[in-house]
Amino acid sequence: MSAPQPKNYAFGMIGLGTMGRNLLLNMADHDFSVAGYDKDTSKIPLLHKEADEDGVKNVEGFSDLGAFVQSLAKPRVVMMLVPAGKIVDSVIAEITPLLDKGDMLIDGGNSYFLDTTRRATELEVKGLHFFGMGISGGEEGARRGPSMMPGGDPEAYKRMQPVLEAVAAKVGGEPCVTYIGPGASGHFVKMVHNGIEYGIMQLLAETYDVMKNGLGMSNEAMQQVYAKWNEGRLQSFLVDITKDIFAYIAPDTDHLLLDDIKDEARSKGTGKWTSQIAMDLQVPLSLIDEAVAMRDLSKYKALREEMEKAYGARPTPSQDEQEQLAELEQAMYFSMIIAYAQGMHMLARASEEYVFNLNLADIAKIWRGGCIIRSEFLNTIYNAYQQQPDLAHLLLDSDVRQQVQDAVAGARAVVARTATAGIGVPALAASLSYFDTLRTGRMPSNLIQAQRDYFGAHTYELIGKEGVFHTQWTASHEEAENKQDTHRGTGTENETPVTPNK
Ligand code: 6PG
Repeated sequence: MSAPQPKNYAFGMIGLGTMGRNLLLNMADHDFSVAGYDKDTSKIPLLHKEADEDGVKNVEGFSDLGAFVQSLAKPRVVMMLVPAGKIVDSVIAEITPLLDKGDMLIDGGNSYFLDTTRRATELEVKGLHFFGMGISGGEEGARRGPSMMPGGDPEAYKRMQPVLEAVAAKVGGEPCVTYIGPGASGHFVKMVHNGIEYGIMQLLAETYDVMKNGLGMSNEAMQQVYAKWNEGRLQSFLVDITKDIFAYIAPDTDHLLLDDIKDEARSKGTGKWTSQIAMDLQVPLSLIDEAVAMRDLSKYKALREEMEKAYGARPTPSQDEQEQLAELEQAMYFSMIIAYAQGMHMLARASEEYVFNLNLADIAKIWRGGCIIRSEFLNTIYNAYQQQPDLAHLLLDSDVRQQVQDAVAGARAVVARTATAGIGVPALAASLSYFDTLRTGRMPSNLIQAQRDYFGAHTYELIGKEGVFHTQWTASHEEAENKQDTHRGTGTENETPVTPNK
């Protein structure tokens, strides 16, 4: 390869790992001239080699940051694809002095959205546009078409829009990228995407457990079930890859690689952040919480083995396989709807709280292709929010309601049977409990309020009466009534503000 020539490259990429190289090659495929930079000099010949192999032109690699920045057309558009966390800050510190006012810096990693808020504020002062952009679809998606969620200044977005739309996955000819909103909204939406991803992955793991340990099915039979599901209403990327995993034989063996893999799941944190932030926002996300918790529980291998010895192995129920498989498909479908519904609810709430002004229909639309949670059902979600942008909850859409009503019986059957059999299905059960509670006009929370008032004089509100009240619960009936009367009013000094329920 000849030495890099000064040129007005339209786009620059910092970080030439597989994702960075693939996205760059994807851009070059679409006739954008692009430059890449990596400190690790071994990545440069790799980029050139892959470009040559794919017959891609207009790609140049740099290991000198200054030369890389100089090679870019102004105002510059530079993306970082480096591991989230401190590395992002150090790359920003290195590159910022080399950039000019009006240049754009995009963080394409899975950064924590509050870090993105901080970075955007710091760079704004320097006259730079900072974009937090979630990218989904893994290495293959980066090369052939990812789903992208950019957030930042809407005017600056227009300058990067052509290249992003060109490289994005397409569904019905429409690109799976849209301007998400201001500030850290892009990274926020990607975080929730990952929460939904965790939820659906956990649900699929539970269906595997039910089939394997509840029904005693073979790997081959399970492979056929996932293949069948993927041809129906559960059609999705995650069911599709699960079907493939159940067909992959470990090299030089006669059994599935899956059977050799440790049952300890790792995570990089986006699912946990989704649950943490959901709690801050007071949005119930129980299914996703369970998915995060089960990854954590999976790591307690020794403890689980000790417990298994102490309590004995789980019994295998007798079965009517066909009927139970039909119910399992219903349960999976029902719970998958809940996973999306909880995620969309969180986005709606966050949009208010952080003034993101999110367009939920557009988000569903760009998730239909390229990303990990792409699925047939996202068309239904897209239609629901397109028809009713202010829909209070996805489960209130009439099409969704119909589908939930059709599938919920299966979820009940599976949760009931597995409970009896001693097989844990935390995400399936959480989604059913969430649904049953959410459709309850009067919850038992009045008792919680009474208890809080009893032990802490935190006061309660009464149906049809203004104000807050406190009762001396230990006094006799008569005394209590009198006391209650005396405390009736607009509040006591112990009153705690009631958070509005959304
Ligand atoms: C995607 C994925 C990706 C994520 C991996 C691993 O949309 O392409 O969400 O961004 O990094 O799925 O995530 P965990 O390590 O947290 O499982």
